[in-house]
Amino acid sequence: MLQKTVKQLAYFNSELKHIKAIEQYVESLFSKDSTGHDFYHMKRVARLAKIIAQKENADVFVCEAGALVHDIGDKKLFEHPEQAIEKMKHFFRSIKIEEYVIEQIFIAIKDISFRKQRVPETKEGKIIQDADRLDAIGAIGIARTFAYGGAANQLIYDPESNKNTTIHHFYEKLLLIKDQMNTNYAKQIAEERHQFMQLFLEKFYDEW
Ligand code: NI
Repeated sequence: MLQKTVKQLAYFNSELKHIKAIEQYVESLFSKDSTGHDFYHMKRVARLAKIIAQKENADVFVCEAGALVHDIGDKKLFEHPEQAIEKMKHFFRSIKIEEYVIEQIFIAIKDISFRKQRVPETKEGKIIQDADRLDAIGAIGIARTFAYGGAANQLIYDPESNKNTTIHHFYEKLLLIKDQMNTNYAKQIAEERHQFMQLFLEKFYDEW
């Protein structure tokens, strides 16, 4: 009995060490980002993914680790996406994450991008996708959207035309997100964040 507890604790410690190491790795890659995909985006998505994983009885480590690295290899953010993914695999091996866990992480993150509009095949993938999308809405989502618009030289709003303004992005993407959640718990959070964005838009037009 005692032996079992010690063994579980040891495993827990090694997972924690892995998470810390992955955080450092991710921080080194994203510390200079100004498009809304900085290190804190990865941290927030990881925290949300962990919470949802606990509620949904999924593999918490795969969800947290996968969420931390989910934007590595994104074509928007990396000049050499394939190389970035190979390096990440090498890094996982160097800190001795088991091969089948690495595979689970890769399966979980391969389909999460919004642009691809795919539903990931595993529960862990669905959870990371939910967590990533939740970080695109609500107060944080609003802040990130304007940061991204600035980085892309967009107007905040143009009452004459709907094209390529940051406000237009709400209708193209942000307001659609609440209906694309995979898990029930994420749906609840999304509903709240959605209402806050609607309130923001009302006030925005009011002040405009
Ligand atoms: Ni992301």
